[in-house]
Amino acid sequence: MSQAFLEVKELTKKFGGLTAVNDVSFSMERHQIIGLIGPNGAGKTTLLRLMTGILKPDTGSVRFMGQEMAGKKTWDIVNKGMVSTFQNMRPFRRLPIIANVMVACLCPRALKRGEWVKKIEAKAMDALEFAGISDMAKENASVLSQGDLKRLEVARAIATEPELLLLDEPFGGLSPAETDLMAKSIKRLHKGGRFGRLHSEGPAMIIVEHKLQWLMMIATRIIVLSFGTVIADGPPEEIIKNPTVVEAYLGQGGN
Ligand SMILES: Nc1ncnc2c1ncn2[C@@H]1O[C@H](COP(=O)(O)OP(=O)(O)OP(=O)(O)O)[C@@H](O)[C@H]1O
Ligand SMILES: [Mg+2]
Repeated sequence: MSQAFLEVKELTKKFGGLTAVNDVSFSMERHQIIGLIGPNGAGKTTLLRLMTGILKPDTGSVRFMGQEMAGKKTWDIVNKGMVSTFQNMRPFRRLPIIANVMVACLCPRALKRGEWVKKIEAKAMDALEFAGISDMAKENASVLSQGDLKRLEVARAIATEPELLLLDEPFGGLSPAETDLMAKSIKRLHKGGRFGRLHSEGPAMIIVEHKLQWLMMIATRIIVLSFGTVIADGPPEEIIKNPTVVEAYLGQGGN
């Protein structure tokens, strides 16, 4: 039997009396783009943080490409090929934007033998170009708007050349026109091969988003969390008609 690309099993995380992630299990294939949705506070960000080693689960496992990731250090998980962007962005504000991405290029899996500063700079530029902020590369990250910080996050993540890219609200703070552009870029990235030396094969993705109309155009499968539990998992066209999902959203004032 071939091993799953990603297998999350019975993952649980409590914060005091609150169960933020409650017995979550799912697996995914290398070619998929999963949309992870659910009302505010459903546990989406916590789930990504458990997968990328920022938080340690109370119980459960995260098997990625045949290895256990739960409880490992974030650096080791990135180096294995799973990387996440953050809902709350924290760039090195006093460094130029391009330097923020060059730091990510220093990840050993992205840093091939014999690559020196010029090559790293070119690679960082590719990532910035993909994210749509290459014209600002030399300015300090402190000048970036909310939307542009989002783009920097994406550039930093793809510069590590991930196998699995986790995006936490990539459309957050973007205007409708910017959201369109980002959605197209994400689709192209998944197809692979378009961004300079980056990604001959595009990464698998898990995308957390509240902007469902855009997410539904990208994702091939949707997982719905509510109060830390998976309440639905299936193709987008089925999920939007699912009464339990509609109820979970309407119960919280809708989205
Ligand atoms: N470090 C923490 N300490 C205590 N409680 C936390 C912590 N992180 C998250 N929580 C709580 O866990 C629950 C899930 O939060 P989480 O941020 O994962 O939700 P989310 O689905 O990402 O929500 P949103 O859509 O608003 O980003 C919330 O009730 C939140 O208040
Ligand atoms: Mg969140």
